[in-house]
Amino acid sequence: MNSALRPEQRAELLAQQLTQEEKITLTQGEDFGATAGKLMDLVRFGFPPLLEADAVRGVMNMERTVPATEFPANITIAASFDDSLAETRGQFLAEEARAQGIGILLNPAGNLVRDPRGGRTSEYLGEDPLLAGNMMAACVRGIQSKHVIATVKHFAVNGWESQRKTSDMLIDEAAARESELLAFEIAIRDGKPSAVMGAYPWLNGLPQCANKFLLTDVLRRDWGFRGFVMSDWDAFQDTITSANAGLDIQSGILPSTTVAKKPDTFAGGGFNDGRTETPPGPFGPGGARPYYGELQKAIDAGDVPQARLDTMVRNILTGIFASGVVDNPPVPGPIPIDAHLAASQRQTEDGAVLLKNEDGVLPLREGQTVAIIGRVADGFMAKVPSPFSKETKHAGPTALAALRARMPANITYQDGTDGASAVAAAKSASVALVFAAMVSTEGLDRSTLSLSPRYNELIQSVAAANPNTVVVLYNANPIFMPWLSKVKAVLAAWQPGDFGGDAIANMLLGDVNPSGKLPVTFPTSVEQLPRSEIPGYNRGGLGGLYKEMVTVPLKEGAAVGYKWFNATGQAPLFPFGHGLSYTSFDYSRAHATVSDGSIKVTFVLENAGERAGREVAQVYVTPPGEVKRLGGYRKVALEAGGSVDVSIEVPKQMLARWDTGGQRWQVRNGTYTISIGGSSLSPALEIRVDVIGVDDWTYARAPSAPP
Ligand code: BGC
Repeated sequence: MNSALRPEQRAELLAQQLTQEEKITLTQGEDFGATAGKLMDLVRFGFPPLLEADAVRGVMNMERTVPATEFPANITIAASFDDSLAETRGQFLAEEARAQGIGILLNPAGNLVRDPRGGRTSEYLGEDPLLAGNMMAACVRGIQSKHVIATVKHFAVNGWESQRKTSDMLIDEAAARESELLAFEIAIRDGKPSAVMGAYPWLNGLPQCANKFLLTDVLRRDWGFRGFVMSDWDAFQDTITSANAGLDIQSGILPSTTVAKKPDTFAGGGFNDGRTETPPGPFGPGGARPYYGELQKAIDAGDVPQARLDTMVRNILTGIFASGVVDNPPVPGPIPIDAHLAASQRQTEDGAVLLKNEDGVLPLREGQTVAIIGRVADGFMAKVPSPFSKETKHAGPTALAALRARMPANITYQDGTDGASAVAAAKSASVALVFAAMVSTEGLDRSTLSLSPRYNELIQSVAAANPNTVVVLYNANPIFMPWLSKVKAVLAAWQPGDFGGDAIANMLLGDVNPSGKLPVTFPTSVEQLPRSEIPGYNRGGLGGLYKEMVTVPLKEGAAVGYKWFNATGQAPLFPFGHGLSYTSFDYSRAHATVSDGSIKVTFVLENAGERAGREVAQVYVTPPGEVKRLGGYRKVALEAGGSVDVSIEVPKQMLARWDTGGQRWQVRNGTYTISIGGSSLSPALEIRVDVIGVDDWTYARAPSAPP
């Protein structure tokens, strides 16, 4: 308990005290239905078990006795392009975790959105590695500042849900290093999480939770990660391969079958919880899932060195000590709920994206009559995934109630089930607001990004009846908009959380000026995507296993999202980085200087309109012969007429390519195009800069990798 010692030293001292059985127990994460999991039963040392909880849109804990805040979907945070918002969200989540006695958050999740139809698109942080990496890092810093362990997941490739346990993703090393791995590298370097969770799918012929390239070569040798790696819930496939590849913890084991609960079976027998099956493949014909109860057997047989178990234990304990959770254990108690509810509203306001606003139809004006149409206006999308939550009602008014409270006499409402009444209401109002929703969820991908035909028809017929039609989307994914040219405005609000209704009303009425930008490209059709169908579409599902492996060459490589559109010369419906404001911004006087491979870009940003607003100034870099990449961004608040000098540093890694043969990052000599503006397409300014003679570099590659 000497907190003056380094975490590694404390881990070593404790590890020396542990029995072999305790060491093996440490590598077993229990499934703990009420929250998500439980780690470390070292009560004899005074350490209570550490509870783990998911935090998709708030801390998920069915047994909670205190109210918990429902925050908007994670993608909202990415859409804010504001790292500090991610950091405060992390703090709030950690405060709520602590108040419920939870010491490990299974958050943040920053898998690149390789396909916008993926069921977890809204749980992730967009399609760009710099943005997702920065957001993960900021969230980790926020969580761990409260002495709760943050778990960065799902390392590394988990682009969609179909056949998630039996898809083998093929990608070459350079493409991986420049896409998902880059995002996780930034998260680990700048966030220093204590924990990493592996991913379900396979990568280049091996399950990712038994993949030495990922778990040891990249994560520990190259990036110097010093915490612990847990598997995803039942992603564990093989004791010997996983242990030797660098996995430290198997997650999600049924409590009754762990070594801790069944010590009598410990003596090398090995057992499994028989709940799920492994797919056939290099690990045999498939069958009941094995797990680390078999570790001792493997050690006795010489298949896993005892030293490897000792390293696993040190990794786990180092991560735990480094987080401060031992010195500041979580104490159940009240949370500052009012502050958190206000933060939830603020997040919705900071991340909603105004996609279109023709003729300044928004914000709504005094004296207008407004027809509100669509049942979701008077509701929300589901509360924090319902199986885990007792609460189903959101705090705060719905958007309808919030608008009614603010424009009392001028509102009519139709839930949209009767098309004729909706059209009649639209006809007699000065503005028609149609609310439409599209959800998606873990375990299930979407085949299309179309709203249901009912919603599309409703929007078409309302737009035909009222020239001032505005669509408000509650959306977990990008949406196709066959009616786009017929409507005046579209606001993509993602999945609003508590007090999201007030947030929507504030934006529609202009009390809050929208400032979100798209962290994912909105395509016009599935034909624009790297694959028109997700391989193995929706086979396997949430808990299930589709046994036949499907091999998926990720032909887009590192060209994920807008980079794919750029590489293939396609025009999306709305580009990455796009988002409007009720004011307008001017960019001028761009300048770039190169120093040791980093490019410092300066320019003047001016609010040229009549309202205060916030702009996400974006800098993209196009290396010679390559596609455009986001190099940096800054969210700036400006009063009407105000202007500011902005300086954005593009780190040299954002210019570089990974050279697999030489195992190093390289910045090519040549002329780089720097595009500056409020979107990834049609930049406000474009300048060129020569980059010459940047030395190649690689990782220190300390020989600290596990044996
Ligand atoms: C998900 C993880 C989650 C875990 C525990 C898994 O199915 O992929 O993201 O942390 O379940 O709930």
